[in-house]
Amino acid sequence: KRLILIGPPGSGKGTQSPIIKDEYCLCHLATGDMLRAAVAAKTPLGLKAKEAMDKGELVSDDLVVGIIDEAMKKPSCQKGFILDGFPRTVVQAQKLDEMLAKRGTKIDKVLNFAIDDAILEERITGRWIHPTSGRTYHSKFAPPKVPGTDDVTGEPLIQRKDDTAEVLKSRLEAFHRQTEPVLLEDIGLCFIEGKINVIDYYSKKRVVAQLHADKPPKEVTAEVQKALS
Ligand code: AP5
Ligand code: ZN
Repeated sequence: KRLILIGPPGSGKGTQSPIIKDEYCLCHLATGDMLRAAVAAKTPLGLKAKEAMDKGELVSDDLVVGIIDEAMKKPSCQKGFILDGFPRTVVQAQKLDEMLAKRGTKIDKVLNFAIDDAILEERITGRWIHPTSGRTYHSKFAPPKVPGTDDVTGEPLIQRKDDTAEVLKSRLEAFHRQTEPVLLEDIGLCFIEGKINVIDYYSKKRVVAQLHADKPPKEVTAEVQKALS
C-alpha cells in the first residue's frame, strides 16, 4: 500500500504510523523526523531547514521533495510506504505524482486526520518522545510506566523544541495557510473552477478517507483499519 497521512500538528499521524506500518509491512517516511535528524546531525540540509522548523514554518518544497525522492529508493519502501507529513503543499503533491509516475505507481489512500485546533495544544505540550525508536507518549493520554522514561529501553524521553504553545500557533497557521486554496492557474489545473488545496487535490482522485482524529487512539486505529480494508 502507498499511503499519505495528512493532519495538523498533534492530530495523531506519528502515533498511528507504527501500527499501520507493522500491519501492512510498509516503510514509514516522516519528513519531520527526517528533517529533525538532519538538524541534529548538522548536515547541510539540516542547517537549511533549522530556522524554518524552529519558527514552526514550512521548509522549502525543493528540500522536502529531495528528501522523499531519496528515501523512497530504500529497499524497505519497495512494498509500500506511509508518507507522514508529506505532501503539505499542492506543489509537493504534484512533484510526488511525478515521482510515482516514473516508478509506475500511484497513491492508494490519503488518510485525513480531521480534528479541531482547540484540542491540539494539550496534545502537543504533553508529548514525550523516545528519540531512537520514535515511540511517542503523552503525560496525560499515553503516559510511560515511569515518567520521562521509555517503556521498552528505559532510556530518557525528550520533548520536541517546537512543541511549545507559542510555536504551535505558527505551525497551525502554516497548516491552514498551506491547505488553503491556491490559484488554479498557478498549478495548471484547468478542468475545475475555483481554487484547490492538498485535500481537494486528492479528493479529485477519490482516494481520501476522513478520520475522526479527536477520538481515543484505539478508536482512531479502528477507523484507519476500516479505511484500509
Ligand atoms: P512534523 O514532524 O511533521 O510535525 P507536525 O506536522 O507538526 O505533526 P506532529 O508530529 O506534531 O503531529 P502528529 O500528528 O505526528 O502527532 P502525534 O501522533 O505525535 O513537522 C515538523 C516541522 O518540519 C514542520 O513544522 C516543518 O517546519 C517541517 N516539515 C515537515 N514536513 C514538511 C513538509 N512536507 N514541507 C515543509 N516542511 C515540512 O501525537 C501528538 C501527541 O498526542 C502525542 O503525545 C500522542 O501521544 C498524543 N495523541 C495522539 N493521538 C491521540 C489521541 N487519539 N488521543 C489523545 N492523545 C493522542
Ligand atoms: Zn509527527
